[in-house]
Amino acid sequence: MDRIYLCLAHMSGKEQQYIQEAFDTNWVVPLGPNVNAFEEDLATFANRREGAEPLQKKVVALSAGTAAIHLGLIMLGVGKGDEVICQSFTFAASANPVVYQGATPVFVDSEPDTYNMDPQLLEEAIKDRMAKTGKKPKAIIPVYLYGMPARIDDIMEVARRYEIPVLEDAAEGFGSRYRGQVCGTFGDYGVMSFNGNKMITTSGGGALICPDEETKKRVMFYATQAREPFPYYQHEKIGFNYRMSNICAGIGRGQMTVAEEHIRHHQWVHEEYVKRFSDCPEIVVHTAPSGEMEPNYWLSTIRFEDGKHTVDGGLLPLIEKLSGLGIETRPLWKPMHLQPVYKDAPAYVNGVSERLFSCGLCLPSGPYVKEVELNYIVEKIKDFL
Ligand SMILES: Cc1ncc(COP(=O)(O)O)c(C=O)c1O
Repeated sequence: MDRIYLCLAHMSGKEQQYIQEAFDTNWVVPLGPNVNAFEEDLATFANRREGAEPLQKKVVALSAGTAAIHLGLIMLGVGKGDEVICQSFTFAASANPVVYQGATPVFVDSEPDTYNMDPQLLEEAIKDRMAKTGKKPKAIIPVYLYGMPARIDDIMEVARRYEIPVLEDAAEGFGSRYRGQVCGTFGDYGVMSFNGNKMITTSGGGALICPDEETKKRVMFYATQAREPFPYYQHEKIGFNYRMSNICAGIGRGQMTVAEEHIRHHQWVHEEYVKRFSDCPEIVVHTAPSGEMEPNYWLSTIRFEDGKHTVDGGLLPLIEKLSGLGIETRPLWKPMHLQPVYKDAPAYVNGVSERLFSCGLCLPSGPYVKEVELNYIVEKIKDFL
């Protein structure tokens, strides 16, 4: 059997047609028909709602999800000396752009059932930062970890009460929904990622969901070196080279034809893990805590409840053993407040992310994980136990 990876890119077959069109028309640049059409596809995908009129948000295609977070922060006016509240339980790319802007991340821990930002702890953190610094945090970055919706309505309620804008990091939550609405469309800005390991890919890429046409234009301005509308090169702001290439966008257009299929597959893989581990009392497959949440299950994750398989105990030997058998697995994200690079950042913790990091494991979940692979993965984990 081939090595089984967590999540590999999977093509529809239409990608090359769009790339060919780009070559045939010589649109081999970071703008063009594929970029425009991919943005339209993404906007239609993100704006649809169950039982309600579609939203009217706009999307800008960019070179990476990290670039989207960075530009989102710029749009929210985050700068030197500001604080930005970030989910601690995440990948470093959620928080690093805060530092690019000369601001300080303030980490907030997760809820035990969604694994995402705890709305109560968020409010405590806001109050405490206001008391300590005399000013409000400039933005809030909740994350949809492994595709699980956060309690975004509660987070938005707190954010509105304190009038703090929200930048949703939906890099892992592409197409996940909360109360019928696509994750990434609740806050002021939303982030998508099309890295090679994500739900759909453009090899590398990302997008920023913007509230309207005006803000979209502004994001495009910053993404293309902040060039002012003069006949010569005039710059009044610092810009970035963050636009998506028309070739990558061609891959994206092809991927959009299978986006729903990919999501359904990841959801099926999750259901299978739930069934197959149901006779293992020591294993819990992370599952949406409420019917209002429709995760894409980008990665299925399990946690060991036996106290034996911890990251400083039996978990790493298990990962090594599975790797030797051709199965890729990895621990859950190490929380940002435990990262040496963020040791001095303020953190509001409740033990949840530390516990999950200690006993959790990501399992292969992508398009190449079928019946045979599932049988093999589950059998080998059970053997090890
Ligand atoms: C939670 C999260 N945020 C942000 C990113 C950054 O996205 P990208 O790799 O497209 O820059 C990723 C993934 O890589 C991620 O998992």
